[in-house]
Amino acid sequence: MIIFLIGFMGSGKSTTGKKLAKKLGYEFLDSDTLIVEQYGMSINEIFDHLGEESFRESETRLLKELISRSNLVVSTGGGLPCHSGNMDIINRNGISIYLKVSYSVLFNRLLNRKYKRPLIRNLSDQELKFFIEKKLSRREPFYNKATHIVRGLDVEIDELVDLIRE
Ligand code: S3P
Repeated sequence: MIIFLIGFMGSGKSTTGKKLAKKLGYEFLDSDTLIVEQYGMSINEIFDHLGEESFRESETRLLKELISRSNLVVSTGGGLPCHSGNMDIINRNGISIYLKVSYSVLFNRLLNRKYKRPLIRNLSDQELKFFIEKKLSRREPFYNKATHIVRGLDVEIDELVDLIRE
């Protein structure tokens, strides 16, 4: 089985994913980390030198590689489920969990976590607020296709395990 954690930047996918993988005895993978390793560049450098489109293509390529594997928990970059039919690929090949977090909590969490994220690194606080509102409302239709939707930051790992085993 593959479990995909999806949701906006700052929704705690990696932290939750690591704990969930440990609990299930599965391997944990993070899509951004794998792409960074493949290119030997940071996400900022990939966006700067190759462009966002190349990054998005690499997300879909990676996803198609991952689905041949099993016993994995995958934390996906915030944009991955929202293009190229990726959400359908995810749901056809695994269980998806949307870590839902409110705008205001995302805003507070992202204020100090902007710098490694090319889409928001140059935004003022006010611009960040508008960006989150606009982007999240565009992305939610994709995130809402998840097999399960849970309260992102205070989800209990045991609750997640129960959901997955339902
Ligand atoms: C992105 C989210 C980032 C990373 C890239 C683009 C997005 O991942 O993939 O900066 O489009 O939302 P996190 O969700 O892990 O921050």
